[in-house]
Amino acid sequence: SFRRSNVSPRFLHSNSTSHTWPFGAIAMLIDNAYDPDVSAKQFWIDKTVVKDQDCLTFMDNGYGLDLRTMHKMLSFGFSDKTTVKGVQPIGIYGNGFKSGSMRLGKDAIVFSKSKSTSCVGMLSQTYLEKIGAEQIIVPIVCFDQTKSDKHILDLMQ
Ligand SMILES: Nc1ncnc2c1ncn2[C@@H]1O[C@H](COP(=O)(O)OP(=O)(O)O)[C@@H](O)[C@H]1O
Ligand SMILES: [Mg+2]
Repeated sequence: SFRRSNVSPRFLHSNSTSHTWPFGAIAMLIDNAYDPDVSAKQFWIDKTVVKDQDCLTFMDNGYGLDLRTMHKMLSFGFSDKTTVKGVQPIGIYGNGFKSGSMRLGKDAIVFSKSKSTSCVGMLSQTYLEKIGAEQIIVPIVCFDQTKSDKHILDLMQ
């Protein structure tokens, strides 16, 4: 029979162990902002505390994400970056965000705001453990900002 090869939530941790050094993990996030599909000019790193939990924040002023790219960002092996104006992409395997973010923390939440849409996506080992998930599911919510009622474009899970 033909079956979909599942990805266990435990793989999020296994996959992150490729970074022996946390700064290599941070580099993955910087690379993503610098790559030509995002072309951020600035990048900010900060540390804050949310409900007694240390929280690292990474922010860039690049092109941002919509529902399709947010789903790609939270999936494995999907990268369709190409060279733009001679700038070659650093990321090509579609894994850097997952290995990097999961090396730095157990949970990541991604916020993006662009002209037309606002999106929130979550890759959370804590959440997947709590619900006893046997596969990785990634909640994503996107709003259309051009509509005054800010209606939800898509809600997964
Ligand atoms: N800071 C960002 N801004 C916008 N899109 C991003 C950002 N980081 C990642 N992405 C999107 O998520 C995808 C997956 O990122 P990643 O796992 O690092 O793989 P890769 O860089 O090899 O494509 C990227 O191809 C890009 O579409
Ligand atoms: Mg990358």
